[in-house]
Amino acid sequence: MRTELCKRLGIEFPIFAFTHCRDVVAAVSNAGGIGVLGAVGFSAEQLEIELAWIDEHTDKPYGVDIVIPGKYEGKGADLDADALEERLRGMIPPEHREFAKKLLADHGVPELPPDEKPRELLGWTAVTAGPQIETALRHEKVRLIANALGTPPVEIVKEIQSTGRLVGALCGSPRHVPGHLEAGLDFIIAQGTEGGGHTGEIGSMVLWPQVIEAAKPTPVLAAGGIHSGRQMAAALAMGAQGVWTGSIWLTVEEAEAAPEEKQSYLDAGSHEAVRSRSWTGKPCRMLRNDWTMAWESADTPDPLGMPLQFMVTAEAVSRTHRYAAKSQKVAFNPVGQVVGAMKEVKPVREVIQTMVEEYVDALDHLNSLMPE
Ligand SMILES: Cc1cc2nc3c(=O)[nH]c(=O)nc-3n(C[C@H](O)[C@H](O)[C@H](O)COP(=O)(O)O)c2cc1C
Repeated sequence: MRTELCKRLGIEFPIFAFTHCRDVVAAVSNAGGIGVLGAVGFSAEQLEIELAWIDEHTDKPYGVDIVIPGKYEGKGADLDADALEERLRGMIPPEHREFAKKLLADHGVPELPPDEKPRELLGWTAVTAGPQIETALRHEKVRLIANALGTPPVEIVKEIQSTGRLVGALCGSPRHVPGHLEAGLDFIIAQGTEGGGHTGEIGSMVLWPQVIEAAKPTPVLAAGGIHSGRQMAAALAMGAQGVWTGSIWLTVEEAEAAPEEKQSYLDAGSHEAVRSRSWTGKPCRMLRNDWTMAWESADTPDPLGMPLQFMVTAEAVSRTHRYAAKSQKVAFNPVGQVVGAMKEVKPVREVIQTMVEEYVDALDHLNSLMPE
């Protein structure tokens, strides 16, 4: 299973693991896959701390994921991050903030301590992602950078490639492929609608082969709904050069989520992972709860666009995270449909080992069907 992309990255197994947790990044890379740290929620300074920690805990390559959406409010405005945040703040109707506050109060979620103020404008604009990329490029073992929600600007692609690293981007429709190829990306991640986090409308089984065909010879990673080595075998059989996974790392031993959050995932069925714009403004797959349903009602405010909606919900993310035990009914729990198969907490090494064994079993099974 050592694909061309594995060789270029110097990894043993074609298992790519997206996670916000540095412990999981290091554990996956140490187990022969490659961990990719989601940077969107970190300031450049915090990201530096996280990457320095990972550097100390693995000798293996790892990656960083940033978010520069193709479309967002304020795009193209020639402003620095503070000025952009100020302008965006003025675009938020007061009733959105009031509605979010009321939802938390109605569910008894405590206020944050007065000295704790959440960052509202995260790394999902070009101006806020820029410093994250500079930070990532200072770390030798960061061998790949991926971008979510669109084609990264060409000058960023070139800058990353000029350092000898690979750069790729997610893609939820074959329509996104030409733009990605034009920008000269080294690889494309085809994520089916089943996936956790921001996701499109086309199922993995239909999307992967279309993207693989359209992108040839650019390598494609298959994402969305993968939890087993059997699925990995299917993805590689279709021509993918690896699997890009996210949800399954939310419940591993090394993941630092609150026990109540992990329990919400362990208890959920696949049908409960729905697409909702209620946290970030773009369709994002997450556990359905009172929060997602409240924003969908006819008599409540409609979610704003990205990044405005998150500026409304940032405080709710911090409060529900901090007081996880009291807030699961209104918490932000992004996850894919594969949540229905996530029933046990296991260490990362075991998850990878099992996937590799299942992959080999799947190949044996297929070979057993060949005529003697
Ligand atoms: C909790 C969570 C947060 C995510 N955040 C991001 C993100 O910030 N950037 C990104 O490129 N992908 C993000 N994703 C999507 C993953 O990179 C990956 O494509 C997806 O999880 C694959 O589908 P799966 O969840 O079925 O494994 C996120 C996924 C999850 C589960």
